[in-house]
Amino acid sequence: MSHNNVTHGKPWSGRFHEPTDTFVEEFTASIGFDHRLYQQDIHGSIAHARMLAKVGVLSREECDAIIQGLEAIAQDISRGQFSWSVALEDVHMNIEAALTERIGPVGKKLHTGRSRNDQIATDIRLYLRDAIDLITTQLQRLQEGLLAIAEREAATIMPGFTHLQTAQPVTFGHHLMAWFEMLLRDTGRLADCRHRVNVLPLGAAALAGTTFPIDRAYTAELLGFDGIAENSLDAVSDRDFAIEFTAAGALLMTHLSRFAEELVLWSSAQFDFITLPDRFCTGSSIMPQKKNPDVPELVRGKTGRVNGHLVSLLTLMKGQPLAYNKDNQEDKEPLFDTVDTLLGCLRAFADMIPAITTNPDKMREAATKGYATATDLADYLVRKGVSFRDAHEIVGKAVALAIEQSKDLAALKLATLQDFSPVIEEDVFDVLTLEGSVAARNHLGGTAPAQVRAAIQRGREKLNSLA
Ligand code: ARG
Repeated sequence: MSHNNVTHGKPWSGRFHEPTDTFVEEFTASIGFDHRLYQQDIHGSIAHARMLAKVGVLSREECDAIIQGLEAIAQDISRGQFSWSVALEDVHMNIEAALTERIGPVGKKLHTGRSRNDQIATDIRLYLRDAIDLITTQLQRLQEGLLAIAEREAATIMPGFTHLQTAQPVTFGHHLMAWFEMLLRDTGRLADCRHRVNVLPLGAAALAGTTFPIDRAYTAELLGFDGIAENSLDAVSDRDFAIEFTAAGALLMTHLSRFAEELVLWSSAQFDFITLPDRFCTGSSIMPQKKNPDVPELVRGKTGRVNGHLVSLLTLMKGQPLAYNKDNQEDKEPLFDTVDTLLGCLRAFADMIPAITTNPDKMREAATKGYATATDLADYLVRKGVSFRDAHEIVGKAVALAIEQSKDLAALKLATLQDFSPVIEEDVFDVLTLEGSVAARNHLGGTAPAQVRAAIQRGREKLNSLA
């Protein structure tokens, strides 16, 4: 058997005696999805080459040739003039082979002091950093939209629900600001996660570091990383930053899904609280009258993907010994789909929310139907000296009578109410109105229109401080 010339075209083929099985070649390749990382890969390689030149491992001329070659390859790829090869397995080896083809043997020097293990960890971190920024921009657009309609609807009365049963009147502005608060926490989670994403793995090489006199601080500076991974084994192996991002994404999607559910309910003929703009809905091929809230329904449905990706990534990591294992190649598809899903859903919501119109009469009518001011009557009795437990009992009986007579509490006569408790006076009707009820909840976090406007003001300041 010959001991030379058995290269089979792979950069690692030196120790192999036969070519890779064709099915295994496809099975192990990641080029079908990791080609999406080409910009990050080239960006990382250029920084690595500059660092190698700075420390004298590459000459200036070699470094310049490598950088020019990589920039030309980036252009070819962006113009669709690059053909990806499955035989070359992944984005790294495809680009490296193209580089050597373009600039000659000096291209082979780029991989000095580096491994695909620290290279891929770097690529994903660069990708995720940009993705977090794009997602945050869309999130903020959605939050601005929420603030705008919350302002318009700061005094619009609607029923507030618990158990989806009418509970107490609230303002629609207050309800919208609840969504704003949830999204603000999502923004915070992403910002926090970004700190741990934005750390440089390069220099870890395969797992143990490298024998070359590298300058990791310089590479980090060139790539805009805020920190440097302290341990080479950890740097190439953990994907906790991706899991953390996906967890933040799953929570964000879960919020959007709950929001979507309300939009679906509210736009139904049964609620009729809001109208979704036609351009965000679709019709039915058989029922001519239908206008379906497809956008919120899809957002609700797509939440399943992201929640699933979180479980995939957790399960992928669990049980892996240090350091790098090929398992980690499976991190990309869930991660890419999480980013795509978040961007799509946020964009759809950010475009749609400001275009929603409300039907205040319907909201009001619904609030008058469910004895929403019963707690206000109980609180009124307490202010007149009755204990809360007794007041609860008294109001319960009044509600039972009102149900019997198919009337709202405010429609009962004063004398009738006084039969339940002698402390009731003419001023009771002030607390039984919907406006009186919401206006009375006038403290930080309460639903009074004045408080909603103050919350909007604070929300706007918080949003501006993040931008
Ligand atoms: N495609 C691989 C991944 O996504 C790149 C790193 C491969 N490293 C290795 N030693 N096989 O993780």
